[in-house]
Amino acid sequence: MTIQDPITVVGAGLMGTGIAHAFVATGHAVTLVDNQPAALQRATAGIGKILADGVRLGKATQADADAALARLKTAAGLGEAPRDSQLVVETATENLAIKQALMREAESLFAAETVFATNTSALSITEIAAAINTPRRVIGMHFFNPVHKMKLVELVRGLETSGETLARVQAWVTAIGKTSIEVNEAPGFTTSRISALLGNEAMYMLAEGVARAEDIDTSLRMAFNHPMGPLELGDLTGWDTRLVVLQYLHQTLGEKFRPCPLIIKLVKSGRHGRKTGRGIYEYDAQGQKVPNSGIRPF
Ligand SMILES: NC(=O)c1ccc[n+]([C@@H]2O[C@H](COP(=O)([O-])OP(=O)(O)OC[C@H]3O[C@@H](n4cnc5c(N)ncnc54)[C@H](O)[C@@H]3O)[C@@H](O)[C@H]2O)c1
Repeated sequence: MTIQDPITVVGAGLMGTGIAHAFVATGHAVTLVDNQPAALQRATAGIGKILADGVRLGKATQADADAALARLKTAAGLGEAPRDSQLVVETATENLAIKQALMREAESLFAAETVFATNTSALSITEIAAAINTPRRVIGMHFFNPVHKMKLVELVRGLETSGETLARVQAWVTAIGKTSIEVNEAPGFTTSRISALLGNEAMYMLAEGVARAEDIDTSLRMAFNHPMGPLELGDLTGWDTRLVVLQYLHQTLGEKFRPCPLIIKLVKSGRHGRKTGRGIYEYDAQGQKVPNSGIRPF
């Protein structure tokens, strides 16, 4: 299967930054789209930083990093992206109406062979695809955070996703040096379903006063060899996104996914995680976790 450019990534938040980086760093031309100019600026700076870190660590040369950054363009709307984009990766806010509207806009703009992938964490691929007349070309392409460190991409087939769409996306995943798994659509796929449950249970333990945040995270890291604890991971993912996922899983899979009230409190207070500088823990200006800063809910 030949790998084709150009690629459009829509949504320049946490994930759009990492996904755009993954493609430009492996030689692909990317247009990164967001309707918030500040998000595009942050994403461009973020991609520059990942590339600079790669040079500092001896993983790439300065010339490689410069060439990668030169392959990145930004745009305020899908209408400014190249009409011959072969792959559009939608990674905007986790909201069905936003994702369906972006699919409809993409269908009106791009060629019939363009594949539309969505990076939704848990929403139904079938329902996102139902917004357009060509659902065969919609697929879940679920990346993990931070994208430049995480090897897996979970490919999720909706009811109408064609075998050709799957095969083309598998080839793109291989081309950016990652590994894909194939999953038939179910709420939360394989990864978000497990991760949301684990994070929610950790929050209930914190809320019940079973242990301090630091100790809950240490238990998962040291007893089970998880690279991060579930509360640290929630700070990285963003509790706002985590809450939307849990609400959807609660609605579709039932009671065991009822969001812990402490997550709702955290989101209401603006403690969304690393991206707002405060979540379960606090982070300094360099993004480093402040020691012993875990919240004490009592
Ligand atoms: N955060 C994670 O760890 C993670 C992991 C895997 C998948 N995801 C999924 O990736 C998606 C993005 O998550 P995120 O954490 O990057 O969110 P984020 O809040 O950091 O970024 C979302 C971006 O989408 C932009 N946006 C919203 N509506 C738009 C529109 N109509 N057109 C263009 N841009 C628009 C926003 O301006 C924002 O910059 C969500 O579907 C999320 O569930 C997140």
